[in-house]
Amino acid sequence: MDRPVLAFCVPKFAGGSWRAAMAEHAPHVVFRNRFEGFGDPALVRYAIAWNPPPGELAQFPNLACIFSLGAGVDGILADPTFPRSVPLSRVVDPDLTQGMTQYVLLHVMLHHRKQRAFDSFQRERLWKPLTAGPAGDVRVGIMGTGVLGMDAARKLRDLGYAVSGWNASRKSEPGMTFFAGMGELPAFLAETNILVCLLPLTDATRHIIRADTLRHLPKGAFFINAARGGHVNEDDLLAALDSGQLAGAALDVFETEPLPVTSRLWSHPHVTVTPHVASQSNPKTIAALIGESIRRVERGEAPLNPVDLLRGY
Ligand code: NAP
Ligand code: GLV
Repeated sequence: MDRPVLAFCVPKFAGGSWRAAMAEHAPHVVFRNRFEGFGDPALVRYAIAWNPPPGELAQFPNLACIFSLGAGVDGILADPTFPRSVPLSRVVDPDLTQGMTQYVLLHVMLHHRKQRAFDSFQRERLWKPLTAGPAGDVRVGIMGTGVLGMDAARKLRDLGYAVSGWNASRKSEPGMTFFAGMGELPAFLAETNILVCLLPLTDATRHIIRADTLRHLPKGAFFINAARGGHVNEDDLLAALDSGQLAGAALDVFETEPLPVTSRLWSHPHVTVTPHVASQSNPKTIAALIGESIRRVERGEAPLNPVDLLRGY
């Protein structure tokens, strides 16, 4: 009998580290990428995907499960031919969560502790103490306290920050304040000093950071976007930075990636740019999860962390 094929549907990437990790965690599966050719489409039972070219997944008639290479699935669901009857499993991995929490805490503390100012004073050999104030006076508002946002929220709370969360549904967690739905977004923003976006990108959240949301923040708030560039209207963001409505921003994701060299975000004095590295998928840990999901699917069960296609996350 032919062995099931796992198609690696990731543009411009042969996936050598994923091939090695999958050989360990699902040795009965044949790993193929587009460079060597996927072979007979009918033998492809599984796919690992990240921004696949439209139509690539739809060419496999016998897919049993699609695995997102990351936590977000917007780049997969953007394909209008995505085979919606096939289960889609996303990444929920302690390593990915830890990396994101590090990114969020790093930028919250760089801002709160005024580290950027001290960096510039050092370049001028200037001994100039500034006061940061207690963490409890700083409210970090996290849009999307799901798997990633909640871990960052808990660690920020444990460091003494005041923490709020905004979600589609009402959540609760000791020592945090929660808001739910568009109706409560202005109240959430009004008390947020550092805004963190960790939402999934869906029709409901596209361009949710725009002029008429940014205006609800207290003047001089700071913004961290580690979710997707599509959450932000970049012109409105630059206007808020120019006017001082925002004191600064740490941006890991952009409407167009790589960020075009012509973007003013590169050179804005109050913007930190990172190249979509807030948290990177680790093939070793994620291949173990995919291997477990494959075993479940082969027993007729659902994979780990299935995506709700109606919600889009
Ligand atoms: P998740 O567990 O699915 O959490 C998503 C959260 O967003 C949930 O709390 C959900 O609220 C909330 N939400 C969704 N739609 C909403 C809406 N319309 N209004 C208000 N709240 C809404 O996702 P995750 O694993 O934490 O990942 C979040 C995102 O991070 C990913 O989708 C990805 O885009 C991004 N990410 C980026 C990087 C990077 O390196 N930059 C790395 C990993 C992930 P409910 O629970 O109430 O539905
Ligand atoms: C990375 O952006 C992810 O969604 O995991």
